[in-house]
Amino acid sequence: MSDSTKATVIGAAPEGASDPASAALAVRKMFSSIAPRYDLLNHLLSFNVDRLWWRNTARSFASILKRQDARALDLCCGTGDMTFALFREAGESAKILGVDFSHAMLQRANQKSAEKSLRWVEADALQLPFPDQQFDLITAAFGFRNLADYDAGLREMVRMLRPGGECGILDFGEPRGLIGNLYRVYFKRILPAVGTVVSGVKGPYVYLPASVERFPSPEEMLGRMRRAGFREASWTPYTFGIAGLYRGKK
Ligand SMILES: C[S@@+](CC[C@H](N)C(=O)[O-])C[C@H]1O[C@@H](n2cnc3c(N)ncnc32)[C@H](O)[C@@H]1O
Repeated sequence: MSDSTKATVIGAAPEGASDPASAALAVRKMFSSIAPRYDLLNHLLSFNVDRLWWRNTARSFASILKRQDARALDLCCGTGDMTFALFREAGESAKILGVDFSHAMLQRANQKSAEKSLRWVEADALQLPFPDQQFDLITAAFGFRNLADYDAGLREMVRMLRPGGECGILDFGEPRGLIGNLYRVYFKRILPAVGTVVSGVKGPYVYLPASVERFPSPEEMLGRMRRAGFREASWTPYTFGIAGLYRGKK
C-alpha cells in the first residue's frame, strides 16, 4: 500500500493491497491459508496466555451474558475461541453467533463446537446480514485490527447493538518500557520466524507485528469509538499492555 493510501485508508494494509477491497481480500486469503495451524500457533506463540485474555474478556461481560434473553455476536470469530469463552460464561440458554468471512476458519470453529448451541455465519464484518438493534453484546478478538476500515466497523457495531448494548474489542497493543523493548524483539523477530516455519506460509506472521504497529493507539481508538456513537469508552490493558480490551456502550 502506498504512503498516500495509508494516510487516507484507516484499516488493515497487507503487503500489496492498494485499496480497502484488495486489503479485505488479502486478509481473507491470509487467514484461510493458515487456518489448519491457526490454533496451534496461537497457543504456542502466546504461551497459552491467549486463553486467559479470551476468558477475562468474556467475564467482564458476565452481567450481560447471564441474562436469559441475551444475544451476543462475536465478530471475526475465526476458529471460535472467543465465541466459546462467551458461551462458557453465558451457559446453554445464550444465543451466541460467531461471524467470519473465512470459510476455512469457520469450518474449524464448527468442528470444535459439536453439541454446543452456537451458530456460525460466513459474512463480512463491514456489511453484516442482520437487521438493526439485534444484539446486547458484540465482541471482536484479534480481528478488528484486520478490518479494511475501522470507522465502518465501529459504525456497523453501533447499528446492530440494542440501546444500552455493549461492545468489547480485544486486540494487541504495544507495551512500553523495558518489557516493551524485550517484547518487541520477540514479536518482531522470533514470532514471525516461528510462525512462518510452523504454518508453512510466508506472510501472515510478518503481517501480524506490522498490523499491530499500524493499529491506532488506545487514545485514538477511544476517540474513534466515541465518534462512532459509543459512550463510556474505555481501554483495559492485559499483560503489560501486550493486549487490551476496548469497551463501549451504545
Ligand atoms: C486473528 S483472527 C482472530 C480469530 C479469533 N477471534 C481469535 O481470537 O482467535 C482474525 C479473524 O478475523 C477475520 N476477519 C478479518 N476481517 C474480517 C471481516 N471484514 N469480516 C469478517 N471476518 C474478518 C479473519 O478471517 C480471521 O479469522
